[in-house]
Amino acid sequence: MVGALSDEMEAGSSCDGATSKDSVGWGIVGYGWVARDYMAPGIRSAGHRLVAVADPGAASRAAAQAEGARAHADIAGLIAEPEVEAVYVATPNHLHRAAVEALAASGKAILCEKPMAASLGDAEAMAAAVSRSGAFYGTAFDQRHHPAHRAMRDGIREGRLGTVTAVRIVYACWLDRAWASFQGQDNWRIDPKQAGGGALIDLAPHGLDLCDFLLDESIEDIASLTQARAQDYAVDDGALLIGRTASGVLANLHVAYNCPDVLPRRRLEVVGTKGMLTAIDTMGQTPGGRLTFTDGTSGESETIAFDAEASPFLEQVRAFGSALRRPEERAAYSAERDLHTMRLLARAYGEALAPAA
Ligand SMILES: NC(=O)c1ccc[n+]([C@@H]2O[C@H](COP(=O)([O-])OP(=O)(O)OC[C@H]3O[C@@H](n4cnc5c(N)ncnc54)[C@H](O)[C@@H]3O)[C@@H](O)[C@H]2O)c1
Repeated sequence: MVGALSDEMEAGSSCDGATSKDSVGWGIVGYGWVARDYMAPGIRSAGHRLVAVADPGAASRAAAQAEGARAHADIAGLIAEPEVEAVYVATPNHLHRAAVEALAASGKAILCEKPMAASLGDAEAMAAAVSRSGAFYGTAFDQRHHPAHRAMRDGIREGRLGTVTAVRIVYACWLDRAWASFQGQDNWRIDPKQAGGGALIDLAPHGLDLCDFLLDESIEDIASLTQARAQDYAVDDGALLIGRTASGVLANLHVAYNCPDVLPRRRLEVVGTKGMLTAIDTMGQTPGGRLTFTDGTSGESETIAFDAEASPFLEQVRAFGSALRRPEERAAYSAERDLHTMRLLARAYGEALAPAA
C-alpha cells in the first residue's frame, strides 16, 4: 500500500527473545520506503539481524549504516556476505528480476516484494530461476500475516460462514504525481516501464493473494475495468476487478490511487450463507484495525479479538525465518502460486503488461 503515510508504524525496537538459532541474518536489496519503515523494524522486533543492504542510492546506504548495517552499492557485495542468510528484495518492480536471479544463483533465501515483477515475462523468468536453483523463495505478501486475516481464515475453516459466496475488497489511497516516499526519491510508481502499470498492479496483488489465503483456493476467472480519471500520469489510477474461484466464490476488488487518504478506503469482507466477516483498516502495513462477525440468522455483530500490536511485517519476518530453519514449513510459499497471481494481473490488464526487460 502506498501513500497514507499516516499508516506508518513506529519503528519497533523490542526483541521477542528469538533464540540465537532462530535469529536470521538478513540482507535487503533496495533500502527505500517499505524496507526502512516496515521491514527493518519487523526484523528488529522479531529479534533477527539486519546485516547488510545493497542500494545504489547514497542516501539509502547512509540510512542503513545509521541502523548499524553494512551498505553496498551493488548486490554482489551483499551476496559476498556469509552472515546474510535471507534477502528481502524491495527495489522498484522492474528491478526485482535481476535481483532474484542473482540471489537464486547464490543460494540465499529470497523474500521478494509484490508485485513479483513489472511484467509477466520477468515473473516467469524468476520462477524458472528459483526452480532451477532450488532456492527458498517467497513473495512478500505481508497481509497473509496480519493477525486479523489469520483470524478470518480460522473462522472460515471452522465453517462459521457456512458456504462462502463472495469476497469484497476496497483497497485505495491517494498517489499523485508529486508523491515521494522520501524527499528526492523518484516516483517510479507512475512510470509504466518501472512499475508495470498503476493502481491495479500495485494494489490488487494483495487482494488477489488474500483471496487465495482466506479461501484456500485461487481465483481462476478474472475481468476488469481500469480508469485514468483523477491523476495526470500515464498509468491507471483506479480499477475494478471481478473474479471467481474454481469452486464458485465470487470476488470483487476496488483499488485506486485517486481516493483521498482520509476517506474510508481499506475494507475486506467475506460473505457466506451463515454470516459475514468484515475487516476494516487491516489491509496495509500497520498493526491493528477492526474485525467483526455478523450472524446470518440474527443479523447481530460481534467483535473478533486478534493481536492488535503485531504488524504484518513482524509476523512475516517470523514466519519466513521459521520456514528457513524448518524446511517442512516452506509449503506455505510457492513461486508458482505467485506466478498465477501475476497471470491474473496480466489478464486483468488485457495482456497489456510490459514485455520482459
Ligand atoms: N507490501 C507492501 O505493503 C509494500 C509497500 C510499499 C512498497 N512495496 C513494494 O516494495 C518495493 C519498493 O517500494 P518502495 O515504496 O519502498 O520504493 P522506494 O522508491 O521508496 O525505494 C526503492 C529503493 O530501491 C533502490 N534501488 C534502485 N535501484 C536499485 C538497484 N538496482 N539495486 C538495489 N536498490 C535499488 C532505491 O535507491 C530506493 O532506495 C516495490 O516493489 C513495491 O511494490 C510493498
